[in-house]
Amino acid sequence: MIRPKITQRERSDPPRRHDTDAARAWSLILSAARLARNASWSLDHPLALRADPDGRVSPVDPAHRSQADLLWLPHAGWRPGNRAGDHAEDCHREDPARALFDLYLPLCRPHPGSVEVIAHLGQSIDGYIATANGDARFVTGEANIRHLHRMRALSDAVLVGAETVAADDPRLTTRLVLGPNAVRVVLDPRRRLSPERHLFNDGASATLLCCDRARIKPGEQHHGQAELIGLPAVSDGLDLGALLGTLAERGLLRIFVEGGGTTVSRFLQAGRLSRLQIAVAPLVIGSGRPGVRLPPTERLADALRPATRIFRMGEDVLYDFELGAGVPEPSADAIPQNTINEDTVTQAVLSRAELSRIR
Ligand SMILES: NC(=O)c1ccc[n+]([C@@H]2O[C@H](COP(=O)([O-])OP(=O)(O)OC[C@H]3O[C@@H](n4cnc5c(N)ncnc54)[C@H](OP(=O)(O)O)[C@@H]3O)[C@@H](O)[C@H]2O)c1
Repeated sequence: MIRPKITQRERSDPPRRHDTDAARAWSLILSAARLARNASWSLDHPLALRADPDGRVSPVDPAHRSQADLLWLPHAGWRPGNRAGDHAEDCHREDPARALFDLYLPLCRPHPGSVEVIAHLGQSIDGYIATANGDARFVTGEANIRHLHRMRALSDAVLVGAETVAADDPRLTTRLVLGPNAVRVVLDPRRRLSPERHLFNDGASATLLCCDRARIKPGEQHHGQAELIGLPAVSDGLDLGALLGTLAERGLLRIFVEGGGTTVSRFLQAGRLSRLQIAVAPLVIGSGRPGVRLPPTERLADALRPATRIFRMGEDVLYDFELGAGVPEPSADAIPQNTINEDTVTQAVLSRAELSRIR
């Protein structure tokens, strides 16, 4: 058997400080996302968290903010703690922990019960997400692929269109990062996908196959191992309002639409997206499967020009557009009034078993 060659440098290299900082930041972000889902957590009390060097997260006294890596402040939301600013001398782009907080903490805000849908596409600089015959591996680089896995870990459900499953046979798991797998949702109105596809068989996470309800025979419940969900059809496909309502009834409130272009465009056109993330790679495909496509706009003044945040991911650039659909600010009535207790936090942070998975 040929063993991969390990160089002396790899054997003796200690973890770089930036890698450790990023791993700690990610543990804190996962904890924030879990707390945000926890209905018994009171939002009107400050909360302070810190992460050990091994990534284990625990609460600290909010009065001692200098010891905290991450803070919940009732009127400001999640904020990096003072300890996270220890490396303030770092240039922002050089500080991966701060960059992770900037990108992901806005996605960890607590929900008063409404659905939030975020979509992502990785496209070439000329606007294509795949070649004409469907080759999309890979348009964007490693950092953006890792970002996709992180987005899955922060979401309740990850959703794709039938053509993406037909072309890629994806798994849609979080295997590159620490964090839970989301429920997988496939929009296949005509049930054209074979039940042999990975998603319908691998058991890695629950999977829902959503189709036109007329395509489900009486008593039929599964497609492979996936659960069949019948939805009403409207003029341009499945009724997205009915889809999101069905997902919400199952407690799936953070939905990550991971492509392809047709699926993302339909959510965008229906006004269902709270954010649209487009990662642009320094690649020219020339022609192929397009990213976002909407009906023509005659005047530029009418074009969509949302507020944007920009993140560098290796050679790619991620545009994170704020669209705002379905994300009402928490109202005082919606905020649970229970008192924060340490158990709530302890249940939300990561267990040792989970942490050991990334080492
Ligand atoms: N670079 C990236 O970020 C990225 C991400 C994902 C996929 N891809 C690539 O992109 C290609 C697939 O993208 P695509 O735009 O061609 O197709 P797609 O969005 O994956 O799938 C489109 C199909 O899904 C179904 N669908 C989607 N939304 C629906 C709705 N609201 N109602 C009913 N049905 C709906 C329809 O199926 P029917 O046709 O049966 O009606 C529709 O034609 C593949 O080559 C894949 O490899 C790239």
